[in-house]
Formats: sequence, C-alpha cells, structure tokens
Amino acid sequence: MREELSISTELSKNEKYEVLIPQISALIEGETSIVANLANVAAALRQTFGFFWVGFYLVDGDELVLGPFQGEIACTRIGFGKGVCGTVWKEKQTIIVPNVDEFPGHIACSSTSQSEIVIPIISNNKIIAVLDVDSHVLNDFDEDDKFGLEKIANLLVPFFK
Ligand code: SME
Repeated sequence: MREELSISTELSKNEKYEVLIPQISALIEGETSIVANLANVAAALRQTFGFFWVGFYLVDGDELVLGPFQGEIACTRIGFGKGVCGTVWKEKQTIIVPNVDEFPGHIACSSTSQSEIVIPIISNNKIIAVLDVDSHVLNDFDEDDKFGLEKIANLLVPFFK
C-alpha cells in the first residue's frame, strides 16, 4: 500500500479527484479493516481539498453513529430523517447544502461549517453509512464533488461486512 498521496496543489478540483481516486483505491485495497480504510479516506480527502470536516456516520439500528473522521469533535448520534445526514439516509440520495443555515433541521456541530455535502454509501440497496463533508465557506460543493465523492464512497462498499 502507498502511504503517501501524490497530488499537485496546481491541479483543478476535477483533476484532483481524477488523480486521487486511483490512489485511494491503492490505499485501501490491501487492508480489510473498514475502520482503517474509512480513517484513511477521511484523511486523504481533508489533505487533498482542505475541507473543514470530513467523516463517516455508520448506520447502527435506528441511528447513525459517528465513525472515523478528520476535523473538530462532532455529534455522535443522528436519528433517521434528522439533520442533513439523517435526511440522506431517509432519501437515499446525495444532498448538497450551499448554506447550512437555510437547511431546516441542520445539526450544527460547529458554527464554522457553512456548506456541506452528504453522500449515501449503499450496499444491496440499503444505506450502510454516509460520508459527510463540511466546508467553512458558503456554496463550496457542486456536481463535480458529488461525482467524485460518490465514486469514492462506492470504492468503500466491499469493505463493510
Ligand atoms: N452536518 C450534519 C451533522 C454532522 S456535522 O456536520 C459533523 C447534519 O446536519 O447532518
């Protein structure tokens, strides 16, 4: 496994996703632990894009429970349909929130977070986790992030047991 990412800071966001995705594949392919792989993916995303907070919430019964993340401490449990993460779980699709203050029921773990994107991780048509990425600037996520992050989320599916 590679233990260093090689991504030029000169690249555009799309180019960064293009070079990051195969490197994430290589990073996780030799490791069977889902905790280790989620932790490294959170770190790789934060390191590459400088996002304020990157992490996973894992489905546990009728709640999402905080998993590996990079950033400030966060709320540990989110109910089905609650906040952005719980809504993604309910609706089974990615949600981009340009301004968190305008999302009804948004769970504010930090006042620094201004916009976010949450991606469902789906196995056999069921949500098993979500990937939550927060930014300290408004309107920081677009369809290119959705495309890149959904690809990365899909790479992780085989590692969940
Ligand atoms: N933004 C989430 C809560 C988790 S923190 O942002 C880490 C939400 O409203 O679902």
